[in-house]
Amino acid sequence: MKIPIARTSLTEAETRSVLKPLRSGWLVQGEEVRRFESKWSAFTGAKHSIAVTSCTSAMHLSLAALDFGPGDEAVVPAFTWISTANVVEHLGGTVVFCDIDLATFNLAPGNIESAISQSTKALMPVHLFGLAAEMSPICRIAASNSLCIVEDAACGFGATYNGRHVGTFGDTGCFSFHPRKAITTGEGGMVTTEDDCLAERIRRLRDHGASMTDLARHKGPRPYLLADHPEAGYNQRMTDIQGVLGSTQMDRAKDILEERQLLAANYDQAFADLDWLQTPAQLTGHSHGYQSYPCLFQTEPLEPALVPKVHEARNAFMDRLQQAGVSTRPATHAVHMLAYYRDKYGLAPESFPNAYAASQCSISLPLFCGMEEAEQVYVIEKILELQP
Ligand SMILES: Cc1ncc(COP(=O)(O)O)c(C=O)c1O
Repeated sequence: MKIPIARTSLTEAETRSVLKPLRSGWLVQGEEVRRFESKWSAFTGAKHSIAVTSCTSAMHLSLAALDFGPGDEAVVPAFTWISTANVVEHLGGTVVFCDIDLATFNLAPGNIESAISQSTKALMPVHLFGLAAEMSPICRIAASNSLCIVEDAACGFGATYNGRHVGTFGDTGCFSFHPRKAITTGEGGMVTTEDDCLAERIRRLRDHGASMTDLARHKGPRPYLLADHPEAGYNQRMTDIQGVLGSTQMDRAKDILEERQLLAANYDQAFADLDWLQTPAQLTGHSHGYQSYPCLFQTEPLEPALVPKVHEARNAFMDRLQQAGVSTRPATHAVHMLAYYRDKYGLAPESFPNAYAASQCSISLPLFCGMEEAEQVYVIEKILELQP
């Protein structure tokens, strides 16, 4: 048997849905994107949802709309996907990394204050792998230091904190629809915000800074007159082909989430007695969306001196699983150890030891909608059989 780390699973209706915009002749951002946005707002409870080309563009537009720029600093967890940091660089700002909590893989609120300086403008908490970051202390710190919050909710579909969906705590929330995410449009993203002015600015910035969308102009009384452009914006518009694919999947959003949670519960139960495998944290007040199933491989305590040994053992284990047909991956990377950031900011593994340990010793297991019972049983059997 061969089990991938993730597999896109679309229904026949979802697959066929893309024919509608293709046949209508309206392929760019239009009614289908609008429908997707409104279903996203209904699901998350966000006041505004603004579809864009990726989570990376969602974060980029968010910071741009908050007037983040040269001289400004943003606090970013050291364990995340690289683009949380990249968007800060793209706008000429400075990344200030912050270490994570190894029990959750999320930003440790206790580490944030020391990362704040006179130049800090934004906090960028990440709801990694579908587990909400600790938003109460993070929002308190932001408020007492007059900082913006841009939530990286790339993996945050279905993740709630004290009953509230992620992406509704900060100035904006930013989601991804890459195929490894629970809802996919191939590439794609969404900005959520409660702020009317910010929403209007982000809508404008995603569309070349235009004062009116193409759809509104074409449907309006004078489609022959071009819009004005009060800002030098970007083209980060989602197409209607993607919009309809996202919108159709939203009709089974609850089922998608429940299926992922059920798969995770099966793993939790199967691995409960393994002392060398830390399964995803279950925290009071959090509901996990399980974008993936990230574990910590810890055959030894993850003290800095022992991390290389555990890393070797993890890689050997991943290799045995791969030979048996089970794909696994490190949960994500330690951004401070990627060449650009390591060299530019002069960083070392010990600068953010937990992020480094997580990158070296984490292991994500296959979890995706449409995973057959026999496939999950096989993964569990192989992990128990090949365990270190
Ligand atoms: C935590 C995190 N942030 C940002 C991104 C970037 O998302 P996108 O590929 O939609 O730009 C990802 C993608 O995997 C992610 O996991």
